[in-house]
Amino acid sequence: MTEKKRVLSGMRPTGPLHLGNYHGALANWVSMQDQYDCHFFIADWHALTSDYEDTSKITGYVREMVIDWLSAGLTPEKSTIFVQSLVPEHAELFLYLSMITPVPWLERNPTYKDQIVQIQNKDLSTFGFLGYPVLQAADIIIYRANAVPVGVDQVPHVEITREIARRFNFLYGDVFPEPEAILTPTPKILGMDRRKMSKSYNNAIYLSDPPEEVSRKVSQMITDPNRMRRKDPGNPDICNVFSFHNLYSGEKVSAEIDKMCRKAEIGCVECKKRMADYLIQAMAPLYERRRHYEAHPELVEVVIQDGSAKARNVARETMTAVRAALKITL
Ligand code: TRP
Ligand code: SF4
Repeated sequence: MTEKKRVLSGMRPTGPLHLGNYHGALANWVSMQDQYDCHFFIADWHALTSDYEDTSKITGYVREMVIDWLSAGLTPEKSTIFVQSLVPEHAELFLYLSMITPVPWLERNPTYKDQIVQIQNKDLSTFGFLGYPVLQAADIIIYRANAVPVGVDQVPHVEITREIARRFNFLYGDVFPEPEAILTPTPKILGMDRRKMSKSYNNAIYLSDPPEEVSRKVSQMITDPNRMRRKDPGNPDICNVFSFHNLYSGEKVSAEIDKMCRKAEIGCVECKKRMADYLIQAMAPLYERRRHYEAHPELVEVVIQDGSAKARNVARETMTAVRAALKITL
């Protein structure tokens, strides 16, 4: 058997996951589980880089995120699922990498430059926030990952990771493969208000929303803004509800809706009801797995602890090689 390529990715625990996160990342991770040796982790230390003043929510978010992941179909039988702070070796590698990372590489990181300007309600002029990509590099290369599935916004971080890995190898000898970003194809999921679905816009449908809540949110969706009255023909091409039909209702139904909408043969209320039914049907397996884990919180603890112990074994092994390369071997 040829060895499977190793994949690693992570998320910061900043709150419950919505359909945008599902289609933009999670669904893709789930589909990689058979083909790759997958490692998925929750970057709770990274959450500290911006939320260091109030740390009270992080641990709760970590547990909820693990449940979101398991409900979406990640499984500890196929993937190593773990939490960053339970593998303190990340911090040791972060320290060594910080010694060899030139500050200008971090200062010119586009994500850093954007956030320093955009986020005005927090003081982000900290060492930790500047060093975010160094910690991320440690997260990735400590597992000697070959590939990192991420959205476009994370590509600069993977690029810095490659540069840091290269520099380490050049200075101390070949320890790390250079990981590649695998760009997740992301269908653009809009929220109820037609803006990008996002927690901060308060327009999201969450994986943890029960069916009644999903129906209620769908009923509030803005449709074709030019369709004022029931008897007006609509334009599905610019209707958000229709883009959900495309995702969830199947080709036949979508084609039917498209036709009826253009001839005003269906009203938006009815159209939304039909879409909500298909969406809820698609979410049924997620609801079922969620119910199972919510009824057995001790199983979630086991996933976290066992996964982290497994990850830690891999991380320890790498750190032995790192210390040998650095000649820190007392
Ligand atoms: N920076 C990533 C994000 O905000 C989270 C993250 C931390 C990560 N470490 C990682 C992603 C390592 C991939 C690999 O989404
Ligand atoms: Fe959108 Fe459906 Fe209304 Fe047409 S009928 S505008 S597709 S919600």
